Amino acid sequence: MLRKTLILTSILTLTACNSDDRDNQTHNPTPTPTPPAYVEPEIIIVGHRGASALRPEHTLEAYQKAIEDGADFIEPDLVPTKDGYLVARHENEIGSTTNVSELPQFADRKTTKIIDGVSLTGWFTEDFTLSELKQLKARERIPDIRPQNTQYNDQFLVPTIEEIIELADQHYQKTGKIIGLYIETKHPTYFQDLNLAMEDRLLSSLAKYEYSRSIAPVYLQSFEVKNLQYLRSQLDRLNTLQHAKIIQLYSGQSSQPADALKAGLGTTYGQLASAEGLKTVAQYADGVGPSKTYIVSNQGVITNFVSLAHAQGLKVHPYTLRPENEFLPDRLDCSPNPAEKCETGALAEFEIFFKAGVDGVFTDDPGLGRQAADLFLKQ
Ligand code: G3P
Ligand code: CA
Repeated sequence: MLRKTLILTSILTLTACNSDDRDNQTHNPTPTPTPPAYVEPEIIIVGHRGASALRPEHTLEAYQKAIEDGADFIEPDLVPTKDGYLVARHENEIGSTTNVSELPQFADRKTTKIIDGVSLTGWFTEDFTLSELKQLKARERIPDIRPQNTQYNDQFLVPTIEEIIELADQHYQKTGKIIGLYIETKHPTYFQDLNLAMEDRLLSSLAKYEYSRSIAPVYLQSFEVKNLQYLRSQLDRLNTLQHAKIIQLYSGQSSQPADALKAGLGTTYGQLASAEGLKTVAQYADGVGPSKTYIVSNQGVITNFVSLAHAQGLKVHPYTLRPENEFLPDRLDCSPNPAEKCETGALAEFEIFFKAGVDGVFTDDPGLGRQAADLFLKQ
């Protein structure tokens, strides 16, 4: 249980050496502080959209809460604005997670679009500049299940990826604790078609900060395949971000990655979960992020998914462990009330996944995940 994986090696860099520096070095050689080596925990706790059981998701306050509660990583989902900034939202349609519907200046932005084959009516990030988007405030997505989070409605802004990196960096500067960045690009093909491709913009933001370049671990995830293959090729090419890792996400077994669907390929996530499929995934990815039932069936049976993935050298980080009865399997519920937070059931569910051999979990309640992981690793 004490196995640790060294994923970043520290690099001693000396200050640049122009003629003035040479004089200084003669008398007072001062090396640039060495970034610490990062040792990835045996099981990582990923604060899913922040600590979204406790704060409106994808806000700096939700990420901060995740950090305070013991998350190893924070997880922004990204979509672009009209002027190409990457902002944290689970969907580009923002009617249900912000107050946009109540702002008269944006009433005429309401429209209907088809995103990855699904018709949606509302307000879309790609129709707002960053400065316009900053006029909005975040709201709780599921107020019926998380009524306590509505006390924070209309208080928090929609953050950019750079603000999120800066938040983690500030925490590191204050405490010395390294929080990883586990970043998802949402609807990549859809945005490429709008000339708002996210991949290079994301890499450029990551390359901008020392924190994401050489201090923190970075995982890049997507439900699509081609943009991950592109990111892999760029990571291999750039010498600044070679530590970043790629994670293939899996949706329902019979559904298809949006890029495969658009290209008329028959590829399903179920196929990508087979031994042969995982071998293909391992050519460009370092790990997989399946939904829970790939690992534990609805009947509570552990599948062979983790061992198949591990056989290909892939990390396994399932999503999403949530503490309310609504999201727990019935056999772990505390009561019939879907909105009740059921700590005993949630802790039991974490343990089931840890025993199944996963390398980490996405969770809406990183505090509970931390507690469960610490208990499990002590056993
Ligand atoms: O990225 C892992 C997990 O977050 C995928 O699901 O829909 O919550 O982004 P989603
Ligand atoms: Ca996500």
